[in-house]
Amino acid sequence: MKRKPIVAANWKMNGNRALVDKVLESIRITGVDKNVQVMLAPPATLLSYLAEQVKDLKLDVAVAAQNVNEMEKGALTGEISVAQVKEAGAQWVICGHSERRSIFAERSKKTAEKFVKVHQAGLTPVLCVGESVKEYKNGKTFSRLTSQIEAVFHRGGEAALKNSVIAYEPVWAVGTGKAARPEQAEEILLFIRNLVSSICPEVAASIRIIYGGSITPNNAADLFSQSNIDGGLIGGAGLEPEKFIKICQMA
Ligand code: PGA
Repeated sequence: MKRKPIVAANWKMNGNRALVDKVLESIRITGVDKNVQVMLAPPATLLSYLAEQVKDLKLDVAVAAQNVNEMEKGALTGEISVAQVKEAGAQWVICGHSERRSIFAERSKKTAEKFVKVHQAGLTPVLCVGESVKEYKNGKTFSRLTSQIEAVFHRGGEAALKNSVIAYEPVWAVGTGKAARPEQAEEILLFIRNLVSSICPEVAASIRIIYGGSITPNNAADLFSQSNIDGGLIGGAGLEPEKFIKICQMA
């Protein structure tokens, strides 16, 4: 099955309206291939602005939130619900980014709860998984990925992985300039696809599994040429319109 590649930019706590304008203008001028799904995840304050601009310019760009709280509403100062990001225009939500897991101590159970709530709201969850440096060095990569993905399955059942995306982002590659080697990432993404197949066989062929961690225009083409890598989640290079467009063109 041919899967439509995704090139996603996670802006983290960066960017402003001017950057939204710049990136969308670059996408409009260069006309990114229709067979590539572009996704932008700006800070929550920019979601509605981004959604409006995408609509006005008639661009095929998915608007994504970087995180949500799993509760519906309540006394949770500073948090944002799924319904709120949906109303702001988000269609996709990143769940369990490694920075949420490491800096904000988000456990797999909580990530799974968010993932399921996003799914139930009719949005596309992007589940980030990945091992730490220590786990990598101790040969724990596969067991870590298994527990992160199984947490979603245990909470949401077989249906949970339908219409979702998995992003493999080894913590040692995020923001370090040390991307995984293409064949190394391919091996892991194939492992993830086989794991999905054992949990939920009907989605294994169609689910998009992307790689993230120090993707640049210099390594994107080699990564994207691997048969199980369905695109990338880009951090740093996603803040530079020229680099981001180049990466989109390589998908
Ligand atoms: P990076 O970040 O491309 O800067 O390594 C990737 C990510 O955090 O998604």
